[in-house]
Amino acid sequence: MLLSFHSYKGGTGKTTFIGNLGVLLAERGERICIVDTDVSGPGIHSLFNIKYKMTLVDFLQGTCRPSDVVYRHRDHELYIVPSKACEEDIITMFDTPTQAREKMLELINSIHHDMSIDHFLFDCSPGINRSSLLAMNIADRATIISTIDVQDIRGTYILSSMADKLGTRACLLFNRTPPDKQKEIDEVVSDFSKKLGIRLLGSMAFDNSVASTWSRKLVMEEGPECNYCLQLKGIADKLF
Ligand SMILES: Nc1ncnc2c1ncn2[C@@H]1O[C@H](COP(=O)(O)OP(=O)(O)OP(=O)(O)O)[C@@H](O)[C@H]1O
Ligand SMILES: [Mg+2]
Repeated sequence: MLLSFHSYKGGTGKTTFIGNLGVLLAERGERICIVDTDVSGPGIHSLFNIKYKMTLVDFLQGTCRPSDVVYRHRDHELYIVPSKACEEDIITMFDTPTQAREKMLELINSIHHDMSIDHFLFDCSPGINRSSLLAMNIADRATIISTIDVQDIRGTYILSSMADKLGTRACLLFNRTPPDKQKEIDEVVSDFSKKLGIRLLGSMAFDNSVASTWSRKLVMEEGPECNYCLQLKGIADKLF
């Protein structure tokens, strides 16, 4: 399955969630590939401490093969396609959006063939932009990760209507919610997702053990007993 992860505002926790979800799913025996499609602000390589040579951007620009941009994480069946920062969006690298889509699918099909991947996870750039919409268009399911900030919530309306237009099934996850107000928040987010008509995966509370990693470590590896990881396991069960 191809799963894309989006947000309206930046910093809602997409990269952290995807990285830790990838570790969790690989530990459960799934073969996972994470693709960093956030070419304007890539972050997956930092989380996994990848010293890359070639990236998604090089592949899209036609200077290397799919196998040159795939990095295995430890001895897990977890493969990462990092990106490097680039001022263009993915579509602008091509003459037409169709060519961009075909090149992305060429990469996915090649990795799927070589590594027998079960699930691809696309880390997308925040906001409404062409790279993110391309990933949403390719994906089987788009997960919108929001905070309870009103700017995020309003943007989530827009993102969910984009998914609707593209015919991609969307679901919603709230992150960084205040831990002392979990009950009230659960009610609010449940009402919101009903209004929006999209499936709610749940909400994950702000957890200091995640915040204090400063995106340098994966809590699923360094402290899997933390509250964030417990919540992540529950969300992962609902995701498939
Ligand atoms: N549940 C949480 N509790 C506490 N801190 C969190 C939580 N989720 C993520 N963070 C922290 O929030 C910060 C932003 O997270 P992250 O980089 O994953 O967001 P992002 O949505 O990928 O950002 P961008 O849109 O800029 O790519 C990081 O420092 C991360 O450690
Ligand atoms: Mg990110």
